[in-house]
Amino acid sequence: MSTPTLQATSISHKFDYPLFSDINFTLYPRESAAIIGRSGSGKSTLLHIFSTFLQPNGGKVKLLDRDLYTLTQSELEKMRRYEIGIVFQFHYLFKGMSAMENISIASMLSGEKIDEKLLCDLQIEGLMGQKISELSGGQQQRVSIARALCKKPRIIFADEPTGNLDKETANIVMDVLLSYIKEENATLLLVTHDMQIAEVCDKIYRLEDRGLRLI
Ligand SMILES: Nc1ncnc2c1ncn2[C@@H]1O[C@H](COP(=O)(O)OP(=O)(O)OP(=O)(O)O)[C@@H](O)[C@H]1O
Ligand SMILES: [Mg+2]
Repeated sequence: MSTPTLQATSISHKFDYPLFSDINFTLYPRESAAIIGRSGSGKSTLLHIFSTFLQPNGGKVKLLDRDLYTLTQSELEKMRRYEIGIVFQFHYLFKGMSAMENISIASMLSGEKIDEKLLCDLQIEGLMGQKISELSGGQQQRVSIARALCKKPRIIFADEPTGNLDKETANIVMDVLLSYIKEENATLLLVTHDMQIAEVCDKIYRLEDRGLRLI
């Protein structure tokens, strides 16, 4: 069996109250997994932990064969720039810039060319000249997905990537994400409230009662 892309061991974390404890999670290349759970259960927090942005109170995360908490700041930054694709729950695009400028920055930083086909598949090729502030929520969401994919990441973390989309567009986005991981030997971990979206992933986990369970 191949090396896991992501292996988290005994993760625990609390903010004002304990969110979860002893979470173990493994994901392999070409696999996709969805995490579902009530609002406030800690899904985004867990995604931030797995994707290098938050160090938990306890436990270990091994991502792309590296122990995250032994890496230097510059090693972490390199991973984020070249290997990890993130679609945040709130888009974090540069609002005053055009869609194309937002995508170009990611492509420049990673040294990968912008994939025109990807823009067409996401049906955003006609929006490239528009400012982010002039785009709808769902259009921004797809720009944000294009920005994450254009650097050819080895793992994609997506927090409610279809949250603002109608069913048809949501299905298009899922096709794009799942084709990407098969073509590039990558891995996908997403958070969603939509069971139909979760069901197209290889595995579904529910975060509840402070634990993560395969369902
Ligand atoms: N940086 C932070 N500081 C303090 N508390 C936080 C922080 N981030 C999240 N929390 C708290 O942790 C809990 C879980 O938040 P989180 O965003 O992970 O939930 P979620 O499952 O993603 O919810 P939703 O489905 O609404 O997006 C919430 O009670 C939230 O207020
Ligand atoms: Mg969330």
